[in-house]
Amino acid sequence: MSSSSQATSSKSGVTRSISITSGKGGVGKSTMVANLAAALSRSGRRVLMLDGDLGMANLDIMFGRRAQQTIHQVLFDGARIEEVIMNVAPNLDLIPGGSGIYELQRLPPALRQGILDQVSDLPDDYDFLLIDTAPGIDDNVLYLNAAANEIMVVVTPDPSSLTDAYSLIKVLNQRHRENKFSILCNMVRDDREAMAVFQRLSEVADRFLCVSLTYRGFVPMDSGLNKATKLQQLALDFNPRLPASISIQQIAKKLSGFENVQEVKGGIQFFWQQLVGVA
Ligand SMILES: Nc1ncnc2c1ncn2[C@@H]1O[C@H](COP(=O)(O)OP(=O)(O)OP(=O)(O)O)[C@@H](O)[C@H]1O
Ligand SMILES: [Mg+2]
Repeated sequence: MSSSSQATSSKSGVTRSISITSGKGGVGKSTMVANLAAALSRSGRRVLMLDGDLGMANLDIMFGRRAQQTIHQVLFDGARIEEVIMNVAPNLDLIPGGSGIYELQRLPPALRQGILDQVSDLPDDYDFLLIDTAPGIDDNVLYLNAAANEIMVVVTPDPSSLTDAYSLIKVLNQRHRENKFSILCNMVRDDREAMAVFQRLSEVADRFLCVSLTYRGFVPMDSGLNKATKLQQLALDFNPRLPASISIQQIAKKLSGFENVQEVKGGIQFFWQQLVGVA
């Protein structure tokens, strides 16, 4: 890890882990993780991203980098976690996930303890851990979500995105007893459409499940963001005045100000304990 990543830290004391997930693919999870992480780190927060999307691991590319090593090398080739963590911008680090992420839950006890020992040596001054997941209700996605403090479900106005979000919430509730979720509405026309999407999901959830959904904000459909993606740039860098960039910065600001530490299940160590199945 480069020393620039140690720059300013707000030192709030507890790392908030947030998984950014969805039932349906292509709703903008990786885009939200990369841009929210960039916005948070630029406001002085220390942020760690975990790329938990096996098939489409692409956070490194979004930051113009290519991961040389992943968790896989930690598990099978004797690399140490701190060697795998990449500093991609000031205050912003990335753990490239690769296939090793899902092996974590099936480790023999000795290896498991080795990972936990390494994690306890990691700097514990991250304010946020943002986890990018694959879409869907695969066991691997569920367990990454269940390890996080906050499960942020990304939905779009597409009806199948809503039904798939509902299915994801339902199985996380039934199999992992998760009962709190936050909702980010992406690719909407405006805040009215975002609220309508949120309400549609809340109504069904209220009727059939015992869960509470919190509205985290919206990001509008923005062709500028698409252009940025094609140029492999973050929307925030491409043009901070894009409607999508402005919304993302607002959500980051809300997350930063949201110091509800009572609800935090534990710091970064706790997250890793959940991952390797000892908590
Ligand atoms: N608000 C938006 N406006 C316009 N385009 C968007 C918006 N959000 C995301 N996109 C575009 O949608 C596409 C999918 O985004 P992204 O890869 O972030 O989705 P994902 O949910 O991570 O997908 P997957 O499920 O495959 O991992 C990208 O081309 C991205 O630029
Ligand atoms: Mg993705």
